Amino acid sequence: MNVADIKAKVKGIFGKEIFFYETVGSTNTVAADLFEKTSEGAVVLAEGQKMGRGRLGRTWISPAGVNIHMSVILRPKIEFKDATLITIMAAVACASALRKTTGLDVSIKWPNDLIVSGKKLGGILTDLKTEKGTIIAAIVGIGINVNSDTDAFPGEVYKIATSVKKETGNLFSREEIAIAVLGEMNKWYTVLQREDNNMLLSEWKRLTSTLGRQVVVILGEETWSGIADSIDGEGRLLLKLPSGEIKRISSGDLTVLR
Ligand code: BTN
Repeated sequence: MNVADIKAKVKGIFGKEIFFYETVGSTNTVAADLFEKTSEGAVVLAEGQKMGRGRLGRTWISPAGVNIHMSVILRPKIEFKDATLITIMAAVACASALRKTTGLDVSIKWPNDLIVSGKKLGGILTDLKTEKGTIIAAIVGIGINVNSDTDAFPGEVYKIATSVKKETGNLFSREEIAIAVLGEMNKWYTVLQREDNNMLLSEWKRLTSTLGRQVVVILGEETWSGIADSIDGEGRLLLKLPSGEIKRISSGDLTVLR
C-alpha cells in the first residue's frame, strides 16, 4: 500500500499519522498498544493479519496484500452509554465511502456489517479503553474485502462473504478507498462530537437494509425473531416481537429472513 499517497490526500486529522506494517496479529491490538504515543486520528494499517478479529469472538480472514485492514484511534468525548454510536459513525463513513468510490449499492446490516448483494463486504470492530467508566480511547477496526478472490475464503465464509472485485469484476485502488473512508470519518466524527445524534442516526437509517425486515437475532443462548422496527438513540435495535412487544437489543448476530 502507498502510505505516502494516503497521508498526502486525506482531509482532516484521520490518517495524517499512519503506522504501517506488512503483517500483524491484529491492527486493533497494535493500535491499543500504540495509543499513548499517538494523536487522535492516527491509523494502523497492515497488509495482512495473522489473528484478525471479528465481532462476537470470531476470526477475520485477512489475506495479505489485497484488502484493507485498518484501525483508527479516537478519543471521543462521549458517555459510555453512547459507545455504540462510535461504531454507527464508522459504519456510516465506510458505507458512504464505498458507495462513492466503487459505485456499489453498499448497505449497513445492524449493527455494523457492510453488505452488498446480501453478502458481507466488510465489518467494524470497536475496542474501548475505559477508566472509571469513562471512555479514554476507542479503537475502530475496519476490515474491507477489496481485491480478494472470495474463493480463497474457507467453506462457510465463502457463502456469506464478497469483495469489491467479486462484485464489480475489477481491481480497485485500496488507497483510494482508504482515503475516502478516512475523509468520511472526519465528517461523521465531527457530527458525533457535536452530539448531532439525529443527523448521524438518520444517515444510518438511510443506509441500512435491516429496518422493516423480518429478522432473527442470536446472542449466545438467546434467539429473538420479529420485525426490525428501528434503532434508538444509543444504537440499540428495536425489535418488534410477534406479541407486539418491543425488545431493545444492544448486540447480536442478525439474519434477515425476508
Ligand atoms: C466483524 O466481525 O464484522 C468485524 C470485523 C473487523 C475486522 C477488522 S480488520 C482490521 C481490524 N483488526 C482486527 O483484528 N479486526 C478489525
